[in-house]
Parts: sequence; C-alpha cells; structure tokens
Amino acid sequence: MSKKRVLSGIRATGRLHLGNYLGAVKGMLALQDNPDYETFYMVADLHTLTTPYDVKSLKANVREVVLDYLAAGLDPAKTTIFVQSQVPQHVELAYLFSTATSIARMQHLPTYKEKVKQFPEHNTMALLYYPILMAADILVYKADAVPVGIDQEPHLEITREIAKKMNSLYGTDFPEPKRFATAGEYIPSLKGEGKMSKSVEGSYINLTDDLETIKKALAGAPTDAGKGEKLPEEGGVANLLVLVELFEGKDKRATFEKAYLSEGIKYAELKEDLAKAIYEELKPIQERRKKFEENPELVEKILTDGAKHARDVAEATLEETKVAMGII
Ligand code: TRP
Repeated sequence: MSKKRVLSGIRATGRLHLGNYLGAVKGMLALQDNPDYETFYMVADLHTLTTPYDVKSLKANVREVVLDYLAAGLDPAKTTIFVQSQVPQHVELAYLFSTATSIARMQHLPTYKEKVKQFPEHNTMALLYYPILMAADILVYKADAVPVGIDQEPHLEITREIAKKMNSLYGTDFPEPKRFATAGEYIPSLKGEGKMSKSVEGSYINLTDDLETIKKALAGAPTDAGKGEKLPEEGGVANLLVLVELFEGKDKRATFEKAYLSEGIKYAELKEDLAKAIYEELKPIQERRKKFEENPELVEKILTDGAKHARDVAEATLEETKVAMGII
C-alpha cells in the first residue's frame, strides 16, 4: 500500500517559539518518524505576505524557520523540507480552487475577521485568499494528515470543503485531510491572555532562548496570592499550570493544584523549576541548531533538493486537475 501523505507549514515571522514547537513541530516529528507516512514540511513564505512584513528581513526569517526545523529534528533523510514559493504549483492550484470557493464563505471565516481587525489597513485580496492557498498547499500533495495547532481548524474545514467541491464538480480525487493533534496543541500566552504568539511581546519563549531569558519571560507572567478556594480556570496561573504539566508532567501539576487549595503555591519556586525544565528540553535543539548555522551550504542544498522533489509531486496533481477541469 502506498504511504499516506502529510503536509504542514509555518509562516516566516522569525524564530519559532514554544507554541509552534509543541503545537505543530512535535506533530511533524511524530509523523516523520512513522513509516506509514510520507512527510512534506515547508516554510509558508507566501502566507507571510498576507500581513504587514519587512521586505528586507523576509529571506532571513525564512532561514530562521528552516534552522529551527532542522534543529528540532526534522530530518531531510526522512522528510521533504522546502520553501513554499519555490513550488509555484501551489499558487496555480490555488487559483483553480478559487473557482470552487465562494467569496462569502471566505469573508465569514473567524481567522479572516481577526486579521482584518488586527490590521484594518491591510484588508487585501491575499488575506481573503489565505485559506485557498493553504488548501492548495495541502491538497497539491493529496495529504491526509496536517500537524498544526488547533487555531488552524477553520482552515482545514475549508480545505475539506474545497476537496469535496472539486471532486463533485470535476471528478478529482482529493482527500479530506484531518488535523493531526499533539498533546500541547494550545500553548497559552505568558501574559495570561490568549495564545503564545509572535505578535504579542512578552507572550512567548523562543526555541533559541537561554536559561536567563526563559527565567525573565516567566518572571513577567502574572500570578495571584498563590492560594484560593477554587483553581483559576483562565489567566496567568492557569497558563503556568498548563506549562508545568507539559514540561514537568501531570503529577507535578497535581502537586501545585493541591498546594493552591491548601498551604499555597510559591510562584518563585514554580517559575524557577519550570524555567529549568523548559531549558532542558531546548538545550539539545539549540546544540543541533549551531551545527546547521555553521553549514549554510548544507541548509541550501536541503532546500534545493526538497523543492525539486516537492515540485515533481505537486506537478502531477496540478496536471491531473487541469485535465479534469478541461484545461489540458
Ligand atoms: N496557516 C498556518 C499557520 O498560520 C501556516 C500554513 C500555511 C499551513 N499553509 C499551511 C499549515 C498548510 C499547515 C498546512 O500556522
């Protein structure tokens, strides 16, 4: 039986943070190491253009994500690693998909509305088109599984709708891909509200952060008196407990929860231990990153080879679709 395909990507907004790592990269790693799957992982540079960005930093930011991918353990011997814009078939297929997508459906997406609210001056066609290009990213490889964070679910819903619509209109055989979830699929912000995000200063820890930086970031996380009648369900303390569970285990979390309801939590200690636990997980990643930083030619070769293989696979799907649509 042929292998199931997997596609995932992350926008190029700079170095990856813990949220990207736990929500997406860990899932990417799990599927890369599963022999039942053939994996394609990209840096979504074209999607980066849908919100304001710095032209001069874009290429460097793409490289940062690639280095973080390799540092985290994505392995070019097992996975096709590439940059989205180097496989133009994605964009071409996206255009074909746009013939089967209604404008109203795109305008009502919560992800679209949020971005328009965040950047009212940048309500562009590219932003509206975001989910169509993402559907093409996935379906050009006929991927069944997509390791991404839970915030991407609305985009996967669109992807499945487009696949179904294309299949019914033109008799193509696109799969209806599912999100591959990880244990840490929602990583809360260190600010106490929302998710860990590059666009909120002080909300995140980068994979490249040293122990001191991690301690400083955690020091800024809001806390409370340390005890109460009821465990807080949201906010800074709830978020810290999520991180404790992810990096130090369920038992450790339970110990803190008990303390909260009785003698109280000492947050200085909690944060100190948590910082160390996070750093322990990041240390091997940082060591591997150094090796790739010292060898830019190797990184370029990985991307060149990756794009070549990706183009071959993508071209086959594009041609099939063009035939089905009566273009060729
Ligand atoms: N929208 C994704 C994010 O912001 C990035 C992305 C673009 C993606 N294309 C994709 C993720 C295809 C998975 C599959 O995280």
